[in-house]
Amino acid sequence: MEATTANGLLLQVRGASKAFGGVRALDRVDFEVYPGEVVALLGENGAGKSTLMKILAGVYRPDEGEFYLAGRPYAPRTPHEAQQLGISTIYQEFNLTPNQSAAVNIFLGREPHRGGTLGRLVGFVDRPRMNKEAAQLLARVGARFKPDTLVRHLSVAQQQTVEIAKALAIKAQVIIMDEPTSALGEEEVAVLFDIIRSLKAQGIAVIFITHRLEEVFRVADRIIVLRDGRRVGTLPIAEATPEKIIGLMVGRVLDRSQAHISHARAGEPVLEVRGLTRRGVIHDVSFTVHRGEILGIAGLVGAGRTETARAIFGADPLDAGEILIEGKRVTITSPTEAVRHGLALVPESRQLHGLILISSVARNIALPNLDRLSRRSVVSGRRLRTLVTNYVTRLNIRTPSIVQPVNRLSGGNQQKVVVAKWLASQPKVLILDEPTRGIDVGAKAEVYAIMRNLAEQGIGIIMISSEMPEILAMSDRILVMHEGRVAGILDRAEATQELIMAYASGTLRLQE
Ligand SMILES: Nc1ncnc2c1ncn2[C@@H]1O[C@H](COP(=O)(O)OP(=O)(O)OP(=O)(O)O)[C@@H](O)[C@H]1O
Ligand SMILES: [Mg+2]
Repeated sequence: MEATTANGLLLQVRGASKAFGGVRALDRVDFEVYPGEVVALLGENGAGKSTLMKILAGVYRPDEGEFYLAGRPYAPRTPHEAQQLGISTIYQEFNLTPNQSAAVNIFLGREPHRGGTLGRLVGFVDRPRMNKEAAQLLARVGARFKPDTLVRHLSVAQQQTVEIAKALAIKAQVIIMDEPTSALGEEEVAVLFDIIRSLKAQGIAVIFITHRLEEVFRVADRIIVLRDGRRVGTLPIAEATPEKIIGLMVGRVLDRSQAHISHARAGEPVLEVRGLTRRGVIHDVSFTVHRGEILGIAGLVGAGRTETARAIFGADPLDAGEILIEGKRVTITSPTEAVRHGLALVPESRQLHGLILISSVARNIALPNLDRLSRRSVVSGRRLRTLVTNYVTRLNIRTPSIVQPVNRLSGGNQQKVVVAKWLASQPKVLILDEPTRGIDVGAKAEVYAIMRNLAEQGIGIIMISSEMPEILAMSDRILVMHEGRVAGILDRAEATQELIMAYASGTLRLQE
């Protein structure tokens, strides 16, 4: 068993502060973790969660604060040093080498060698031993793939288990997981939670960050809440309720009934998709979206939902199929053409596809809206400011000003900027891929309200989501995909979580 401080703590942080320019990201925060404990660190976008974790991970140096790990002062100068001292972080963007095996990635730089010192010097890796030890570590995290599988052949969830196995290999005492479930489907989340429980049983503490409250109740022992860079409370899970947690996070009581919508009556078809096919990815996908309708697309990760959206939007070429907008056949071979035909897409991976990171909040939101903001090609600064400020306020985008570069915002606030930019663009058809991923609970309600509002104005909306409550609450109809095909289309009245899962897993199939 690892050493602890006199008070039984494994990790203790006292009075941690960190500022970025004028922004006080952390303000004298206390934080503590007991051995084998799962701590959920919660708070709205920009509350300071990732900043605190990056200090623990050796990425940022704190401005002030006392840090102890296992009873010893803890002040890592690099991520490598943090790992050596016992704190490993599972990042959202994995640090894995795709063209190497899982085993090599687990041991990267610490491979067992053959032939003693000489073998080490000339770099003879003892592959059988490495694969055997990797297999043992992978077994501890319940992985079912072989250690010699190349990382690029693994799913996101499997890559995450490689990262966790790597943390075990360097004998982590604390594993930090910053929004680990945001890229996982429901089934994969269940697997991750089993892994977390088994880490706990092995005496390893886990710090877990999420914006999905129900996950907290499934896996955490204790909750710590940050608001505006300050710690505002802690609750043992037995005393926690969603209302209490939200109250602490936002500092006010939220009307959660907002999340349920009054469904607009759908009008004539605005988008029709027939026989969409992209070899090996999606096959014969057909559906219709009506004016004022929200069509939810459910399915497991890898079912072809994002690929369908990208194909419609002209981001990937099609092998077959046709697209009709307002009854007229259109050819879309690029996103620019898609926008010209009145389509908008909020992509799933926002940093990669949605933002110009070095540009300002204002520029990013205004970009697809310049036509509407200008008269005779002159952009009205006043109208631009009004539009941008309106969305910054409604979505509670935490930024010192609208000219702040987006790469200075917290993860969730960057996502809000992408969502805002397309919500503001007033297209004929709006495609949202995981619109609330990484977005805090208050802003989620606002995104839903804006979506409802757009639907009422007659815009057809496609919402791809892995969050079952969101699919059920927001969709007028639900299209379920399985292995690149349409497995079923459900009316909201008949849709249940069980039925959707049955279609998504391939147990049920659309009658031809
Ligand atoms: N590198 C940076 N430069 C400037 N400001 C930063 C930087 N990193 C974070 N901030 C600011 O610090 C504050 C806290 O950000 P942090 O990333 O810790 O929030 P978070 O709680 O992780 O939010 P989210 O839920 O959106 O991920 C935010 O106001 C953010 O804009
Ligand atoms: Mg964060």
